[in-house]
Amino acid sequence: MPSPLTKAVIPAAGLGTRFLPATKAMPKEMLPVVDQPAIQYVVAEAVAAGLHDVLMITGRNKSALENHFDKVGELEQVLTAKGDLEKLEKVKYSTDLADLHYVRQGDPKGLGHAVLRAKMHVGHEPFAVLLGDDLIDERDVLLTRMLEVQSERDTSVIALLEVDPAQAHLYGVATVEPTDDDDVVRVTGLVEKPAPGSAPSNLALIGRYVLRPEVFDVLERTEPGKNNEIQLTDALQEMAGRDDLGGVHGVVFRGRRYDTGDKLDYLKTIVKLAADRDDLGPEFRDWLVGYAATLNPHGDDSGAA
Ligand code: G1P
Repeated sequence: MPSPLTKAVIPAAGLGTRFLPATKAMPKEMLPVVDQPAIQYVVAEAVAAGLHDVLMITGRNKSALENHFDKVGELEQVLTAKGDLEKLEKVKYSTDLADLHYVRQGDPKGLGHAVLRAKMHVGHEPFAVLLGDDLIDERDVLLTRMLEVQSERDTSVIALLEVDPAQAHLYGVATVEPTDDDDVVRVTGLVEKPAPGSAPSNLALIGRYVLRPEVFDVLERTEPGKNNEIQLTDALQEMAGRDDLGGVHGVVFRGRRYDTGDKLDYLKTIVKLAADRDDLGPEFRDWLVGYAATLNPHGDDSGAA
């Protein structure tokens, strides 16, 4: 059954301080992952799941995001005149990708607050939220499955990933009960970034959500939580106890997820995705294997080219 959902919300108002100075004048969402800005993968993922109406929650310093998805007539003319159709295609791809809308967050009061800014645009229908720091490999299925579970169970759906327990404090963490679907769990509790060693499970929320619109009413009365910010996790904790709102279910994702929000993980993401590319991969892998062989894990001079 095709999902009736059409809307995706992408919070993109964060300051990106982990990537300073690269992000001093450029949004972190524009950092390239191989040769596309990170945000383009996320918009493409929403569109691939049938969500063509994309609302970005932005802030100051984010005009490059709007420009990237806008038409650049002059560039198109130059490439057309040169007959460089391959590059022309790449330039037009992001322009034609989705029906994009923008709203500014104003005060940076947290992820829950950012999502609440989508209330007017979304209205009374379920919608997806995609966080830009998490990239899901396009060969693996997550969002489509979440949309399916949302419509079958009339619930709100989060994406869960089993993580190393030592890393659980970096995420929202869920306690769950099994359902009759192998990859679907019922969420009984949620906690945002528990103190190290105190996480109730190793099932971490990754940045994909399909939410019933009642989440807006809950967010409106959600008090600031972790880091004194209005947390989406806290609103979903309330939703989980509300059977009248369909509760919250989790889809346990067992595919490839890349984290671009952390410097080291960002580097790993680029290496993995470049190695997998048909055009760059063969040559890059050859070089990488040779280079890796010259490395001393403890950091002494490698002498590698
Ligand atoms: C956000 C959410 C957190 C979730 C994480 C996934 O945190 O608040 O619950 O686990 O995204 O990437 P952030 O990493 O933006 O601080």
